[in-house]
Formats: sequence, C-alpha cells, structure tokens
Amino acid sequence: MSLDELERAEIGRVGRINRCERKGAALRLRNLSVTLDDRTLVTGAEVAIMPGEKVLVTGESGSGKSTLVRALAGLWPWGGGDIEMPAGAKLLLLPQRAYVPSGTLRRAANYPEAADSRSVEEIANVLKKVGLGHLIEHLDEECPWDQILSGGEKQRLAFARVFLHRPDIILLDEATAALDSQSEDRLMELLSREFKQATVVSVGHRSELEALHGRKIVLQRGRRGAKLVSDVYRNPKPILPRERPSMGLLSLWNSSLARRTFRQAEPASRM
Ligand SMILES: Nc1ncnc2c1ncn2[C@@H]1O[C@H](COP(=O)(O)OP(=O)(O)O)[C@@H](O)[C@H]1O
Ligand SMILES: [Mg+2]
Repeated sequence: MSLDELERAEIGRVGRINRCERKGAALRLRNLSVTLDDRTLVTGAEVAIMPGEKVLVTGESGSGKSTLVRALAGLWPWGGGDIEMPAGAKLLLLPQRAYVPSGTLRRAANYPEAADSRSVEEIANVLKKVGLGHLIEHLDEECPWDQILSGGEKQRLAFARVFLHRPDIILLDEATAALDSQSEDRLMELLSREFKQATVVSVGHRSELEALHGRKIVLQRGRRGAKLVSDVYRNPKPILPRERPSMGLLSLWNSSLARRTFRQAEPASRM
C-alpha cells in the first residue's frame, strides 16, 4: 500500500477497525470488515482463535487474505468491527516478501530489535536451526543483504526472527512460499514443535500444509467483499480458557517504529 492511499483514507470518511484488549481468545474478530478506498475487501468476519491454535487460511488469489492478515497485525486500520487480543500480546507478521534492512546480517536477523540486543551465539544457533548455518561467519558484515540473499533465504531469515523474538501470535502470509516443499514442511514442523503455546495464523496454498494445522478457514471473494465461508477443525475444538497465560510485554508490530519501517519496506502500491 502506498502512503497516498493511507492519506486518502485519512482524509475520506472511512471507518476504522476497533482494536481492543480482552482476555480469552488469542484473536477474536467481531463483524470485521476491511475497506480500501470505497471498496470493501473483507466483510462480516466472525471468528475466535484460541491460544495455541494453528490455523490455515486459504482462498483464491485476490480474495483478501493478505489484506485480512495486515488488518490483524494492525498495519491496515480502515474498515469496521472489532479485533480483540489479550493485553500485551506480542505479535509478529511475516509477509510474503520478507523485509531485509540495510546494515549487517546480524541486524537483519534481529530486526526490528537492535543488532546488539542479542549475542552472536544466540543468533548463530537460530540461523543453524532455520537452515542458514552457512551465513554465520558473515554475521557482522555490512552488505546489501536484500540483494544478495535469495527469496528462500530471506524467508528463512524472517523465520529466524520468530525464533529470536518468540511472539505469542505469529501471522504467516505465504511466508514459506519461496522454499521447496520439503524445506517448507520442515520449517512449519519446527514452528509447531517449538511454539506449542503460540497462536499461528498462516496463509498458504499447498494442500500438504493442512496436515500441519489444526484448523482451516476459507475466504471466498464476493461482490460485497470476501467472506469466511468455511471453518473446519482437524483437531478437537479448543475450549476458551478461564485465564490467559501471561503474555510478553513487547508488541513488535504495534510499535509505531515497526509500522513506519514496514511501510518504508513495502513502498509499492500493493504489498
Ligand atoms: N494496496 C492496494 N491497492 C489496490 N488494490 C489492492 C491493494 N491491496 C489489495 N488490493 C486488492 O484487494 C484484493 C485482495 O487482495 P489481497 O488481500 O492481496 O488478496 P490475496 O492475498 O488473497 O491474494 C485484490 O482485488 C487486490 O487487487
Ligand atoms: Mg496475498
């Protein structure tokens, strides 16, 4: 999305999505709609995702999946209805095109936190885990990493951030699509194994991904906006817990710095 679009929406009388903090579900959408200019892209979304659920969101190309996850991450505020999350929940979005900032690889791996906020050993261990062990010796080199790394390597680097920042809610927007299917499965399995408590909402197309998620939601394009048309549980439906476990303090994608950097990272009219 461009800054022009953001400005147009600010000037026009476009409604805003209401974001509120509430115990219970990790993410709850109440009559959520997402609008762009005068178009409704997503309409009437009602869904509750419990802590620890792994949910796959599918739908044909252009149905509004990326727009929906951007709204969930707080990056697109225009529309209507509510998005509820527990107070202090730490959320991380991995978009399809991973952002790689300038500077050292260590900075890129630890983004959006400062490069030196973690030891080289900690970052190196995570790089090994996500299949980037060959880059460890270059961690402190300043290079145009955005141009050097392949699409798949950038996606692995974005996954490294998940392991470093350990968010409570992980949004993956085709975040493994540039990898071969075996590597994609391996990363997703690793994520499920190491993040049992975390809530994962992933957008993906490969049918094999279904086995790695306990629930599947389908978004279908309609004349008045895309709707959630199917919601199927593979695992037993989780019960709303009485008390949420304590959540991390830092909300990465809710910080104005992270939002600003994200927009700078994706200056094209479409993200
Ligand atoms: N920044 C934008 N400017 C104009 N149209 C957009 C923008 N972002 C999304 N759209 C339109 O919104 C619809 C949904 O897009 P998107 O959320 O990217 O779908 P999906 O991720 O399901 O492929 C598409 O028709 C797309 O062309
Ligand atoms: Mg998309």
